[in-house]
Amino acid sequence: AAPVRYEAESAVISEGTAESNHAGYSGSGFVNFDNAAGTYVEFTVNAPAAGSATLTLGYTNGTAADRPLDIAVGGDQAVDDLAFPSTDTWTNWESVTTTVTLKAGANTIRTTSAAAEGGPNLDYIDVTTADGPAGTDY
Ligand code: GCU
Repeated sequence: AAPVRYEAESAVISEGTAESNHAGYSGSGFVNFDNAAGTYVEFTVNAPAAGSATLTLGYTNGTAADRPLDIAVGGDQAVDDLAFPSTDTWTNWESVTTTVTLKAGANTIRTTSAAAEGGPNLDYIDVTTADGPAGTDY
């Protein structure tokens, strides 16, 4: 199915702030995670059918060091320490891709800061799911 975009600034934010002070983001802004491990953004995404889904996460990281995120689906860790390497500046938006398994219907995808520096500035997740039965694609 075509990718569906979920904006970080519209998701549930725990210990972070929706901001718009670094140009080039999608939607109305991005999330600046508080600089601590455990800070997170939780998206609720829909899948027309159970199966593998590609996640493309838009971000910037204006520091030199990796800002890894753990990715949990439905409360279960799916990806440990997904790397968000330096993009040199906070306005140079890039993306990282990973694959997870979703169930049919609503799924929570929580992206949690895995290091003390916190996550990158997170713009969105594009979710590309398998096609469901005819008429259920969304
Ligand atoms: C700077 C930058 C923020 C960023 C922060 C960080 O303050 O302006 O957008 O989130 O660094 O290191 O996380």
